Amino acid sequence: MIRKLTLTAVTAATLAFGGTAAVAAGEGGHIEDIAFSFEGPFGTYDEAQLQRGLKVYDQVCRACHGLQYVPIRSLYEPGGLGYSEDEVRAWAAENYEVYDDTIDDWRPALPRDNFPAVTGEGMGPDLSLMAKARAGFHGPAGTGINQLVKGMGGAEYIANFLTGFTGEENEVAGQYLYENTAFEGGWVSMAPQLFDGLVEYDDGTEATPEQMAEDVAAFLMWTAEPKMMARKQAGFVGVIMLVILASLLYLTNKKLWAPHKYGKEMDL
Ligand code: HEC
Repeated sequence: MIRKLTLTAVTAATLAFGGTAAVAAGEGGHIEDIAFSFEGPFGTYDEAQLQRGLKVYDQVCRACHGLQYVPIRSLYEPGGLGYSEDEVRAWAAENYEVYDDTIDDWRPALPRDNFPAVTGEGMGPDLSLMAKARAGFHGPAGTGINQLVKGMGGAEYIANFLTGFTGEENEVAGQYLYENTAFEGGWVSMAPQLFDGLVEYDDGTEATPEQMAEDVAAFLMWTAEPKMMARKQAGFVGVIMLVILASLLYLTNKKLWAPHKYGKEMDL
């Protein structure tokens, strides 16, 4: 523990003071715009993309990242990924094990369980809410207008991050760091993960790193905000109702004041 803390401190100090020229050279924070189907006030999730994203998470990311706030049943619930309850039940039992306090033992996961947490040396942060904790493309020209219209862009950040590795790596105090153009500071301890054909998509989509990055990013947007579509719909209905109410009030107002208005004109 102490050793780890010391290492982290040394790494932080090196990064902060630019002890190694190459490390100091990394800047990061560069995000390219990506058009996701769920952007904007009317955007919706693309179910096929979410299913592909789940596959990437399941076969790649889950080795180091948990999704501990995401209930497995949400995969088949309304607004989910479009699977049936039976499919999810079978898939969860086969793929995930959870520790059950009541029987004091491990058992196959059930739809009512959440995806497992993943902790330990070398593991990454939980990804359940990651898409809400990062921001995407700030453009054009850093104005943030894009974000105002299309949303904060956490998914954009994740996709950029996953494809942002330059191939440069560096060892700092025994820890490997990889250069990444999206990551703040430019150097990250996660190694590049996505390579051509790493997963085999059921729908025949070609698994390029960019494709997998966007798919898993869309999936992580969904885990962070599964009810986004319902929220947008409720907002839209709300706006329409306010427009109707405003027109009615305008007409009522006109009608109520009409006699006085003409009366005043006649007095003059
Ligand atoms: C071999 C382990 C490993 C695998 C596999 C892995 N990661 Fe990571 N990931 C890490 C570690 C470690 C960090 C923490 C990096 C840091 O903060 O320096 C991290 C950090 C992250 C971050 C946070 C970056 C930030 O801005 O703080 C995201 C997002 C992420 N990983 C996504 C993914 C996705 C998506 C996949 C699957 C395609 C994946 N990771 C696969 C180990 C892994």
